[in-house]
Amino acid sequence: MFGHFGFECLPHQLVNKSIQQGFSFNVLCVGETGIGKTTLIDTLFNINLKEKKSSHFYTTVGLNIQTYQLQESNVQLKLTVVETVGYGDQMNKEGSYQPIVDYIDAQFEDYLQEELKIRRSFIESHDSRIHVCLYFISPTGHTLKSIDLVTMKNIDSKVNIIPLIAKADTISKSDLQKFKCRIMSELLNNDIQIYQFPIDDETTAQVNASMNGYLPFAVVGSMDEVKVGKRIVRGRQYPWGVLQVENENHCDFVKLRDMLLCTNMEDLKDQTHIRHYERYRNLKLHKMGFSDVGPDNQPVSFQEIYEAKKQKFYDQCVREEDELKQKFMQRIKEKERTLKEGEKELKDKFEHLKRLLLEKTRKLEQDRRQLEEEIIDFYKRKVASETLQTQAYINMKKEKERKK
Ligand code: GTP
Ligand code: MG
Repeated sequence: MFGHFGFECLPHQLVNKSIQQGFSFNVLCVGETGIGKTTLIDTLFNINLKEKKSSHFYTTVGLNIQTYQLQESNVQLKLTVVETVGYGDQMNKEGSYQPIVDYIDAQFEDYLQEELKIRRSFIESHDSRIHVCLYFISPTGHTLKSIDLVTMKNIDSKVNIIPLIAKADTISKSDLQKFKCRIMSELLNNDIQIYQFPIDDETTAQVNASMNGYLPFAVVGSMDEVKVGKRIVRGRQYPWGVLQVENENHCDFVKLRDMLLCTNMEDLKDQTHIRHYERYRNLKLHKMGFSDVGPDNQPVSFQEIYEAKKQKFYDQCVREEDELKQKFMQRIKEKERTLKEGEKELKDKFEHLKRLLLEKTRKLEQDRRQLEEEIIDFYKRKVASETLQTQAYINMKKEKERKK
């Protein structure tokens, strides 16, 4: 009686709260056109994705996003399925992974922006981060294609990858086992991290450890209902028999469904938040100049970094203002110098012209004087000649009178 406090009910409170809020689960399906992505999702969740079949002629890889509100008992699940469109259909497959990477990052960015808001909303259904990537491998029985390796290498640090061998009914049992081993060793050789079912919880450690040994899961999808004996099952009818989707001897569909939905959905979401989102957030905040330690490796608070950044920004503004002022003064000086040079040039030109004018005026004056002297001289000679003429006339007259 005295030992009862009531906090033993805490888990119930959590369960009730979670059920009230509802859950969300975001799945990314990456695989070639027509590899069976939609059929598998339909089979897993017993839904019918409203989606038309893709053509093989897209010039770039796209993404098709659909959201469903599902219910099982009293548990609500908001399921978002993101499917690649036109993956592996281009001649040049080099950048096929880019739209996938961009989409995953964009969801992390949305979440980060929400976190940084003053008024934040952490409603689970608003979380669009991808919790799991089902990577559909072509059932060639050979090796992984280079597009598989390149894409998985580029997304393995951003999302939990569960590799699947698609349309596993098209490959024989012995080939399948060899194919699985080859895929796993190729992933290992290329240092590609796929999601490992966790073995740190003792209630699920055993089953998870054994399921890790089945990866990549060989899956078959089908919404067809087929009669086997007296039972109706989901399967694919062939001339030689029926492949039952939910028969563990036929394929790994049930293993995938149990691992994905029943046992590890919460861990997938935790890993998304703790590992992948945390990595994105860390890189982004570092890029923005935030850090947990200062240059002297001592812990610094967000406030201190903010103040330091503010001071740095202020110093930079002052520095830039000084630089601008100096540049402005220099330009003014340069302008003054060129103006002075221009003025001097004009003055010199003016002086030169003045000198030329003076020279010309003097010359003109000289010419005028000379001309005047010539005129005077001319008049003098004119007068002298007139006097001479008059004298000669008088003399002539006198001579005439004398002769008379
Ligand atoms: P897109 O969205 O157009 O890229 O195709 P998808 O990858 O969604 O493939 P979808 O589920 O539409 O299936 C394409 C074809 O493959 C359909 O005819 C399916 O019936 C068939 N199919 C799907 N799953 C399986 C499977 O597990 N085994 C076999 N043999 N056929 C399958
Ligand atoms: Mg599809």
